[in-house]
Amino acid sequence: MFVGPKDILPLLPEGLADWETLLAKTGLSRPELLEILSQLRAEGFPILMEEEGAGLAPGSPAPQILFPLLKGEFGRAYRYLGVVTSTQDVLRAWEDAPIGAVVLAERQTRGRGRHGRVWESPPGNLYFSVLLGKNADRLLPLRAGLALREAARVGSLKWPNDLLAPDGRKLGGILVEAEGERIFLGVGINVDVPPLPHSAALREFREVQRAQLLADFLWTLEAWLEEKKEDVLAAWKDQNVTLGRKVVVRTGREILEGVALDLGEDGELIIRTHEGMRTICAGDVILCATDDVKDAKIGEDKAQGGGPGHGERERPGSSAE
Ligand code: BTN
Repeated sequence: MFVGPKDILPLLPEGLADWETLLAKTGLSRPELLEILSQLRAEGFPILMEEEGAGLAPGSPAPQILFPLLKGEFGRAYRYLGVVTSTQDVLRAWEDAPIGAVVLAERQTRGRGRHGRVWESPPGNLYFSVLLGKNADRLLPLRAGLALREAARVGSLKWPNDLLAPDGRKLGGILVEAEGERIFLGVGINVDVPPLPHSAALREFREVQRAQLLADFLWTLEAWLEEKKEDVLAAWKDQNVTLGRKVVVRTGREILEGVALDLGEDGELIIRTHEGMRTICAGDVILCATDDVKDAKIGEDKAQGGGPGHGERERPGSSAE
């Protein structure tokens, strides 16, 4: 019977196992095993190969490492892949995937960010997509952001769901795409490698294993999907670094400048501009320097009050653990 890389991957332990054990477990000769491990590595999987043995890098999100860590239903239908274009596309093509199914890849060649941006996807981070459906409402972006913050245990949220490090660099982001009733929640978290000069890696702030982080995210996501709307809005406000700040917002049609004041009941961002109050359903927020806030008089003469936390917010991430 032909034994290929896909048969051997599930047999690999976390960390190194000695060669004798691996040969007995796989039934392969040493050259055959070496060849398959090299193929798996070339396909993007985090294979350790040392003098004393081989295995998967600790904390790799392979099924045999992830499954014992799962606490809920999400992630039990799971596809763990090496290099793909985008996990969003792979999940979309998985026709009979159940709600909570997860596709994770070690690398993406065409990772997508919000607003058509590229999501750089080098090895060492987490790139995955979760299938949702009727269990999602308009607050999904905020709910998912809260799950991301809770799992990461570091940083603050920029509207709607960018996770920023305590110094304001980006640690992770979420992309929501839909097709009919199927919703594809794509999550990128920089765990080991900051892909761009202005991004950060979670490892800079705390010890973290990717499989545990994924399991924590999936469990907290399930919980946040169940939370009452008002509790979601209150929790998001507690974890955010947007409200009270001077912002520039790029929507698909225009660029607005103002002060972020509050959230609408469906999670929209309410900003005060020179022209008056605006409610933003979707857009890209740029936070202006914190020091600008005390000078941010934008539209105050026209606005109804100063809004929550105006000019009083803590520095980004000051609530971080
Ligand atoms: C953002 O712009 O902040 C959202 C980034 C979302 C990136 C993730 S990585 C996994 C999934 N697949 C993609 O192509 N994008 C999302």
